[in-house]
Amino acid sequence: MRLFFALWPSAAECAALSAWHSPLRELCGGRVMRTDTLHSTLVFVGEVEESRLEVLRLVAKGVGGPAFELKLTTAHYWGHNHIVYAAPDAAPPQLAELVNELEARLRKHHFQIESRPFKPHVTLLRDAKWSDAKLPQMLAVFWKFNDFVLVKSLRDEQGVPYYEVLARYPLAGAG
Ligand code: 2AM
Repeated sequence: MRLFFALWPSAAECAALSAWHSPLRELCGGRVMRTDTLHSTLVFVGEVEESRLEVLRLVAKGVGGPAFELKLTTAHYWGHNHIVYAAPDAAPPQLAELVNELEARLRKHHFQIESRPFKPHVTLLRDAKWSDAKLPQMLAVFWKFNDFVLVKSLRDEQGVPYYEVLARYPLAGAG
C-alpha cells in the first residue's frame, strides 16, 4: 500500500481553491488536479506492508497539536517536477511541529521516510510548464484544520491517481 499523511480540506475549501485552476492552466498548461483530491501532504510514507498498517495507525494516534489555519496566498511552479502549486506565505508554527512529531514517531517505529525539508504545498497542476517568472496574484483561500488524515494512494485503469482516506486524527482545541 502506498500511504501518506495529509491535511484534507472540506469540499467547500477545495472548491474555493479550485478557482485558481483555470487562470493558472491558461498560463501553464498541464493537467488539473481533481477538486475533490486537493490536499497538502504532511509526510509521505510510501510503500507499507499491510501487516504494518495497525502500527502506523497507532503512531498517528499518539500525535497531537492544536488546530490551525492555512492561508493559501501564492501560486508557484516547480521546474524539477513540473508542478504548479498553492502555498502559504507563512505557515503556522503548529504545522511544522505536527510534521516534526509525525516524522520522529514514524522513524522511532522504523518507517523509512525521506528527510527532505518539508515545504507546505497543494498541487494544482501536473505536467505544467512555466518559467522563473512570478505567477499572478490569486485570491487568498483559508483552510482550517481540526484533524489530519492517513491516505491510501491508488490508481485507476487509466493510471490516474485517486485517494482513499483511511483514518482521521483530531487536533486539539478545534472550534
Ligand atoms: P506532490 O503533490 O507534490 O506530488 C500523493 O502522491 C501525495 O504524496 C502527493 O501530495 C505528493 O506530493 C506526495 N508525494 C508523492 N511522492 C512523494 C515523495 N517521494 N516524497 C514526498 N511526497 C511525495
